[in-house]
Amino acid sequence: MRKLRTLTSVDDFDRETLESLFDRATYYLDNFGKVEWNILRRKRMLSIYCQPSTRTRFSFEAAMDELGGTTLNSQDALISSSFAKDESIEDGIRVLSEYGHIIVMRHKLPIMRQAADASLVPFISAGEATKEHPTQTLLDLFTIEHERGRIDDLTIGMAGDLVNGRTIHSLAKALAQFYSNVRMVFISPPQLSIPQEIKDFLDQYCIEYTEHSSLAEAPLNEMDCLYVTRIQKEWFEDDRDYQAVKGCCVLRQEYAEAMRDDAIVMHPLPRVDEIPTIIDQNKRARYFLQVRYGLVSRMALLEHMLI
Ligand code: CP
Repeated sequence: MRKLRTLTSVDDFDRETLESLFDRATYYLDNFGKVEWNILRRKRMLSIYCQPSTRTRFSFEAAMDELGGTTLNSQDALISSSFAKDESIEDGIRVLSEYGHIIVMRHKLPIMRQAADASLVPFISAGEATKEHPTQTLLDLFTIEHERGRIDDLTIGMAGDLVNGRTIHSLAKALAQFYSNVRMVFISPPQLSIPQEIKDFLDQYCIEYTEHSSLAEAPLNEMDCLYVTRIQKEWFEDDRDYQAVKGCCVLRQEYAEAMRDDAIVMHPLPRVDEIPTIIDQNKRARYFLQVRYGLVSRMALLEHMLI
């Protein structure tokens, strides 16, 4: 099994490593609250966020805490650290890596490879621009595996902001390269469609996919999983463009009911209005369970990279 030292893209994973992380995450899930783990005692994580986060930051920090490690945190690093004084990414990361044993960083710019290369210690991307979010994919795959019993031979729908959605890009790339006979169904208005670069990647792996402009037109009854995403207002330069697509992919109750009984609905969160709260009671909803799975997946990842 390959030992990960940096994780900036899902391309850094392989199937064997993913399966080993899932085994360990399952152990943490089954024993959560019953065992006191100290395996990361005297290990320190540097948590650097140059973009807002709730789930990723808190789950990494809680994971470190659960395993007996500690965290130093800069949650508005573009304001509160010397990045605000135009310190280069390379210098900033080189210096920060003197203070801890692993760096977890989120940035609005596509600089993760540059940052990882400057680090003297293991480095994890906690989300990079509109490009990738590999640890979200780790927990998304763990959720599918746990809730559907397998990832091979499934049909996965992805709806919403497919152009800016880094969770979508990472998930599509991981499904294509590590799993067999996966079919993808992309649902978005044309302005938000899946980028050509991702389609080219899927073509390399001979992945079958279809594109649909609305949930009403999508083959909902064929999906094993529907992964819904937020229309990401923050990436629109002109608010009129956002207003034109806002509310385009709302999972109405009748759409959820058109899915098979054993299908699941996922969302990386945060949501705005694309999944009405009434769907939270639907037997297919798994998005809050993803949050719990994210904590144990990140515990497994930190252990893998630090021990
Ligand atoms: N899913 C996710 O990345 O959430 P946060 O932006 O809150 O970390």
